[in-house]
Amino acid sequence: MEFDEVLRMRKSSRRYTDETVSVEDEKEILKAIMASSVGKHNDAGYMIAVVRNKEILNTITREDMEKTGGGDPLYGAPLLFVICTTKETIDYLERFDSGIIAEHIQLKAAELGLGSVILFGFVRHLGHDAEYIKKMDLPEGVFPILAVAVGHAPGAEKERKGDRKFQVIHLD
Ligand SMILES: Cc1cc2nc3c(=O)[nH]c(=O)nc-3n(C[C@H](O)[C@H](O)[C@H](O)COP(=O)(O)O)c2cc1C
Repeated sequence: MEFDEVLRMRKSSRRYTDETVSVEDEKEILKAIMASSVGKHNDAGYMIAVVRNKEILNTITREDMEKTGGGDPLYGAPLLFVICTTKETIDYLERFDSGIIAEHIQLKAAELGLGSVILFGFVRHLGHDAEYIKKMDLPEGVFPILAVAVGHAPGAEKERKGDRKFQVIHLD
């Protein structure tokens, strides 16, 4: 797929089928993650958890719905890339770095014809003491900072409807 087409296909999908994402596609997404930029060359500052475990996914859904009274924060997606900080993370860079990693995941998912959505909501609502984090059994000092849900999504083959309308200023 041409790069501009990938850009046109990138969008947030909020409905998923039960179809599993193949291990080949997961590997492609991991390769895209490893092509990310990261501030101060700090590779040790991030850990990526690839979550297919239904108990963990269901725990996120249940905990978040209980806390917010809203709908499923994962939209039924079967695969979740959880970007985690570590003891080595540089605090003033963590939001930039994790956002860049998330964007790489979304762009690759778009190229693969998969749906995806960047998720900060449940990470923020549930905090560090959440039950889903205990179930993830992460190494000491490792905590989620941002996640991207990925899956087969109706409409994933269609282009995004609208573009951003950021104001642009030229300073010649
Ligand atoms: C940092 C960040 C956090 C986000 N968190 C959520 C989220 O928790 N839940 C959600 O449904 N969408 C989330 N989104 C998706 C945005 O709401 C979405 O990008 C926006 O609706 C624009 O739609 P588009 O991605 O289709 O262009 C997030 C996006 C970003 C960049």
